[in-house]
Amino acid sequence: MELRALLHPYTDLVRQEETGPLVICRAEGARIFDETGKDYIEGMGGLWCASLGFSEKRIVDAIRKQLDELPFYHLFAGKAHRPAIELAGRLREMAPVPMAQVFFGNSGSDANDTAIKIVWYYNNAMDRPAKKKIISRRQAYHGVTVAMASLTGLSVNHRMFDLPIANVLHTACPHYYRFALNGEDAEGFASRLASDLEEMILAEGPETVAAFFAEPVMGAGGVIVPPATYFEKIQNILRKYDVLLIADEVICGFGRTGSMWGSQTFGLKPDIVTCAKALSASYLPISATMVSEEVYRGLLEGSRRLGVFGHGYTYSGHPVTAAAALATLDIYEEIDVVSVVRRTSRRFLDRLHGFAAHPLVGETRGIGLVGAIELTSDKATRTPFPPEMAVGPAVVAAAQQKGLVLRSMINDTISFCPPLIIADDEIDMMFDRFEAALEDVALRIGTPASKG
Ligand SMILES: Cc1ncc(COP(=O)(O)O)c(C=O)c1O
Repeated sequence: MELRALLHPYTDLVRQEETGPLVICRAEGARIFDETGKDYIEGMGGLWCASLGFSEKRIVDAIRKQLDELPFYHLFAGKAHRPAIELAGRLREMAPVPMAQVFFGNSGSDANDTAIKIVWYYNNAMDRPAKKKIISRRQAYHGVTVAMASLTGLSVNHRMFDLPIANVLHTACPHYYRFALNGEDAEGFASRLASDLEEMILAEGPETVAAFFAEPVMGAGGVIVPPATYFEKIQNILRKYDVLLIADEVICGFGRTGSMWGSQTFGLKPDIVTCAKALSASYLPISATMVSEEVYRGLLEGSRRLGVFGHGYTYSGHPVTAAAALATLDIYEEIDVVSVVRRTSRRFLDRLHGFAAHPLVGETRGIGLVGAIELTSDKATRTPFPPEMAVGPAVVAAAQQKGLVLRSMINDTISFCPPLIIADDEIDMMFDRFEAALEDVALRIGTPASKG
């Protein structure tokens, strides 16, 4: 097989030339199988996305049926088809706060890009042409288009890409363990971050600040579960300066945090909501951008002046992807996905937090069925390992050998985001394999390991 032609997304290209890929051939439930037949627990649900695992025949059947009936049609120039109409209605019904309209795209990145374009269009239509700056947060992850890599607050997405673009600002990351000051409690930390945000808005000029972008729980930035009062305090500032809130629900949407939306778990009242990934259980690519009545009125006004609302993708609301999403939403309803997550989450969080005492572990954190274990070279001072030791990647490699797929992120933080349908014994298997991997690495780097 010719392996060299594939340019891998998000991969160490130099290492990849030496090691080659792990080729996955099939999957079942929460497990994947490589070419040798070896099985792995998919501890990351693919990319935080395979919410229903890999064996949902009903989604596959819905896709087949739609392919037979209408394999493609678009939504430009007033065209439509049943799957897109129905899906927009379903999403509007289930939105975390009242939403007026739903726009479809193909990925989380483009759903977020659409949100920014809508905000700019809206402010122009409202005769506020200067109100354009977007505030994101350090360690945020919003995707990889030019605008979204700019909003993303991770250096690997900026350096050598000449990003971020202008008019994008980054405020503080709400990670209490890493960024709280000595003696500062969680509430004080949240208050300080809200006042930092206010200072930023005032320094820039509120008349220039359009929107604040937030994942309810930051995913790729290290699974950052914010302090309880953080979003309430942040939203008070946003309201004060008429700054729109965009909730990026690309990971949190559809049950992941133990409510249907992360916005519900953390009390967000967004003006725009984006989602993707679990919208179709990732069987096909589809994303959505939902806008409030107020924002929609701005779009109408813009269209009144210009004629066409000049935005859309060839595959916006593609009927086959919409059919996959509709079947996915049916399944969520039927299994009561929120209850499933709440029940499974007890064992998940129990096992996750069981590692807190391990000598290599600085912090365990999680909510619902998403969590992380941050490694440290010194529990007392919370010092990360030097990046060149690559301790997190070593744990992930050891886990892979033992039949478990995980990811290592910033500061050797190992993330867990299994399919929502993972069984209790698979949760145990996942953490048992992780524990064995951690012990291997602990032995190798010479830190005395004790059972968590
Ligand atoms: C919170 C969040 N937003 C946006 C994206 C980008 O989604 P996509 O990779 O589908 O463009 C991701 C991807 O992981 C994400 O986690």
